[in-house]
Amino acid sequence: MKMKKSIDFNNCSLCFIPVPVYLITTIDENNIYNIAPYGMVMPISYNPLIVSVGSAKNRDTYRNILQLNEFVLNVPSVELLKKINRTADPIPSAEDEFIHADLTPIKSNIVQPPRIEECKSHMECKTIWIKEASNTCTDRVIITAEVVALSLDEDLFIKNLCEQKGLMKPLYYEKHSYFSLGGYIGSRRMR
Ligand SMILES: Cc1cc2nc3c(=O)[nH]c(=O)nc-3n(C[C@H](O)[C@H](O)[C@H](O)COP(=O)(O)O)c2cc1C
Repeated sequence: MKMKKSIDFNNCSLCFIPVPVYLITTIDENNIYNIAPYGMVMPISYNPLIVSVGSAKNRDTYRNILQLNEFVLNVPSVELLKKINRTADPIPSAEDEFIHADLTPIKSNIVQPPRIEECKSHMECKTIWIKEASNTCTDRVIITAEVVALSLDEDLFIKNLCEQKGLMKPLYYEKHSYFSLGGYIGSRRMR
């Protein structure tokens, strides 16, 4: 048996698996568009379709969601890496991040925040509840939301998931480093 090494929390990224990167679009009370990359995002139910997002409270994204209760999860591909980094720049909230990152807004089907044309798929979301992440750490929240509309680049409507995920080329993130998706390794039915 291999020896197990205890790890201090500063090195927690060695224990975790990189998280998928989404671009969250929101709008503020003056109708200014905001984009931010988020990795702490995960589906918690497929039926009904519900997602949870972990956010610091000092994000414009959080403040906008708190106000309007609506946001879009956009799935970028590896080609957008530099533009993703630009959306994480700490620019004034009065500045439109679509212009800052050179991305294109398109109208959403149900919610008010726009989708990002350059992204491969889009989940339009309405907040169900927002809670503080713990009793002791009051600057982080969990936002749980219902997905109310889904859209996808037409050429990615391919039911073979192995091929489809390859073409989506999603990004994963851990401690300032990006990774791409590995290859298909097998079916749920394998024993
Ligand atoms: C790849 C990536 C993933 C990130 N994931 C999160 C996250 O899940 N939650 C969070 O609060 N901040 C996350 N951040 C930090 C925010 O995106 C960053 O602070 C951004 O400037 C916030 O923008 P806003 O103030 O316009 O919302 C992430 C940053 C990067 C680059």
